[in-house]
Amino acid sequence: MKVLIVGGGGREHAIAWKLRQSPGLSGLFCAPGNAGVAAIAECVAIAADDIPGIVGFAKREGVGLVVIGPEVPLAMGLADAVEAEGIRVFGPNKKCARLEASKAFTKAFLARHGIPTAKYAEFTDKNELLSAVGLYGYPMVLKADGLASGKGVIIAETKAEAERAAEAIMGDKIFGAAGERVIVEEYLTGVEASALCFVDESAIVPMESAQDYKRVFDGDRGPNTGGMGAYSPSLVFTPELETRIRGEILTPAFDGFKKDGLDFRGVLFVGLMLTKEGPKVVEFNNRFGDPETQAVLPRLKTDILDIMLAVAENRLAGQKIEWDKRNSVCVVLASDGYPGAYETGERISGLDAVDGDILLFHAGTRFENGSPGGTQILTDGGRVLGLTAVAGSPEEARRRAYENVMKISFKGMRYRKDIGLLPKTARDL
Ligand code: AMP
Ligand code: GLY
Repeated sequence: MKVLIVGGGGREHAIAWKLRQSPGLSGLFCAPGNAGVAAIAECVAIAADDIPGIVGFAKREGVGLVVIGPEVPLAMGLADAVEAEGIRVFGPNKKCARLEASKAFTKAFLARHGIPTAKYAEFTDKNELLSAVGLYGYPMVLKADGLASGKGVIIAETKAEAERAAEAIMGDKIFGAAGERVIVEEYLTGVEASALCFVDESAIVPMESAQDYKRVFDGDRGPNTGGMGAYSPSLVFTPELETRIRGEILTPAFDGFKKDGLDFRGVLFVGLMLTKEGPKVVEFNNRFGDPETQAVLPRLKTDILDIMLAVAENRLAGQKIEWDKRNSVCVVLASDGYPGAYETGERISGLDAVDGDILLFHAGTRFENGSPGGTQILTDGGRVLGLTAVAGSPEEARRRAYENVMKISFKGMRYRKDIGLLPKTARDL
């Protein structure tokens, strides 16, 4: 079967790498891909949000399955457009994609189905928002309702900061239309964890746990990013906690989809805060997490094409899924300045020196002359590379990952040095 992956980051490289291991694969395309994906799939110059372009390509090439990586095409209804052509798709339809595209929609869903989450209120008027400053005390959490590349959340420590944030979102419109509606939330303390699940109408099946490091600097300081690294399994997940998450969150969400007529098929990514009172939902995403996927898929033993086809065809309940017991650590190498402004076009050296058993997933890279003919690889994004080591213990995976990170360099290369270590907030649990 020919498969088309939509997207061009580290997540898509990890998905492509895993799909390549499938005996059922006869062709692999990626739109638009990157310099790393180009080594294992045919990259086609179609933007991830070019719906007619993607659907047209899939039809022309006789693609049997389209795998959608990022949230934007999902929110635009790419899955619906692909299915309308009779092509199988991995990724939820537009109606279900609101679970990521609108935080207000998700909060209402969680409330309706009794799923634990932070208390909240929603606002569409700036003055009403300003008069609600401090509603749940400080820090105050303000969130743009819509999609904002993981950057639409402001945590204001003081009244003055909260007022500035309200003004910035609703006055200056720093998040554009995504900030026309604002969610204010109670601040939760605890440890964050990500539970990625395969979902269709027959079952919800959690993958192995992972933890992302969202802040840009060591010790969880600095602004939020898309994610600076991840490891799997999470050091804070115990069997008891997994049972609670299943009983209090995953099963009620799955039942809620049924009750609300949401025919979700794809990955439900549950962002959790593990608090003293128990696990609470911070957010839902409706796709593989990035970089979590770069830490989790290397531990998947089952053929991912089989799983994706089962999900697309609502057969997940009968699908066996097996995991490698070992530990993984993924360190993201980013451009100086990310998540703000950064330079691109810097030459990357040392890629060939990396040990053979280390996985090197490209996120923001391109070839110097724009085609795979050129051997020189340049930086082309905020997150440039994700380097994953899999080993028999968390310490060994961490050691192997950093030992190899040292071999790579590019101007302005920056990475966190504490990926794989238990976050400081773990002592709050
Ligand atoms: P979100 O986009 O909703 O996942 O939020 C981005 C990040 O902001 C989360 O990963 C948390 O680190 C933080 N955050 C979001 N909501 C809350 C909350 N209610 N309390 C504390 N931190 C939060
Ligand atoms: N790592 C967080 C995300 O993919 O949104």
